[in-house]
Amino acid sequence: MARDSLTLRRPDDWHLHLRDGAMLKAVLPFTARVFGRAIVMPNLVPSVTRVSAAEAYRKRILKALPRGAQFKPLMTAYLTDATAPDEIERGFKSGVFAAAKLYPAHATTNSAFGVTDIARIDKVLERMARIGMPLLVHGEVTDPAVDVFDREAVFIERVLAPLLKRLPALKVVFEHATTRDAIEFVRAAGPNVAATITPHHLTISRNALFQGGLRPHMYCLPVAKREAHRLALRKAATSGEAKFFLGTDSAPHPIADKEKDCGCAGIFCAPAALEIYARVFDEENALDTLEAFASVNGPRFYGLPPNDERVTLKRKTWKVPAKVKVGADAVKPFLAGEELAWKLAR
Ligand code: NCD
Ligand code: ZN
Repeated sequence: MARDSLTLRRPDDWHLHLRDGAMLKAVLPFTARVFGRAIVMPNLVPSVTRVSAAEAYRKRILKALPRGAQFKPLMTAYLTDATAPDEIERGFKSGVFAAAKLYPAHATTNSAFGVTDIARIDKVLERMARIGMPLLVHGEVTDPAVDVFDREAVFIERVLAPLLKRLPALKVVFEHATTRDAIEFVRAAGPNVAATITPHHLTISRNALFQGGLRPHMYCLPVAKREAHRLALRKAATSGEAKFFLGTDSAPHPIADKEKDCGCAGIFCAPAALEIYARVFDEENALDTLEAFASVNGPRFYGLPPNDERVTLKRKTWKVPAKVKVGADAVKPFLAGEELAWKLAR
């Protein structure tokens, strides 16, 4: 008989965009309702490059939490060509920075001040390898000559493989893996290399971007790839292997910024993230490995204890909200208005 309830340790989200101001206030409750901790991305405007900026941002997040919520934001540093190794180490050692994020310049939303050439942050990366601080990579090259669907695979070949040859002990999280190439690379690397996988990349292939017309709410970076890649991601996520863990990459943008010429990249999946993962694991007959992926592998990689509390998912049909209001604006969640079979019990 199919099970209709699933209890697991409280999960964490190892890749999340919370934004700031009214947007932060509107989207944070969706994450805090279910996740114990989240790795908060630093691509604000201006970007979070300094320890002081991360501390101030952390305060704003804590202040925006709904009353009684038990949620711990884990802050990250935004690496630029000018990042000082001492600043990164100071932030890590004082417990402010949990990790540092590499955005290749112009690879994605708010990455204009990212790293123009990995050689420029050599000293920072050496220091991170020495102190055991994780490097979180947006794994796409920005070379306009490279096809957008190949940018992840080419990043591995041109940037990541040489980097790990040079610094074999560096802890690396390959964020939002979208290709079989990334899965195979991470699997073959040492235990210091892991990957996060999003609910949307487990759910859609690139066909979804063009289904019946152009679908801006299915657009994120790295862009969804062909079906064979989605299947490889599903295998990896549900395998229970310690290298693969939950990172939603929930990335809200106001509807007007998505539905326009040159619309923003980013999928807002927080309102149903755990429930969508549960659907995927259920479809793969792998509900037993959901806890490893969602609640155990991530903390183990980061050297943190797993959460003690438990959450329960029940087999109960519900609808993903059509919109989430943000002041006069609104954000459209991933799978807005669609029915899901698993629901978090309150
Ligand atoms: C993210 C955003 O909007 O900040 N967008 C996205 O498509 N995932 C940035 C990122 O993680 O690439
Ligand atoms: Zn992201």
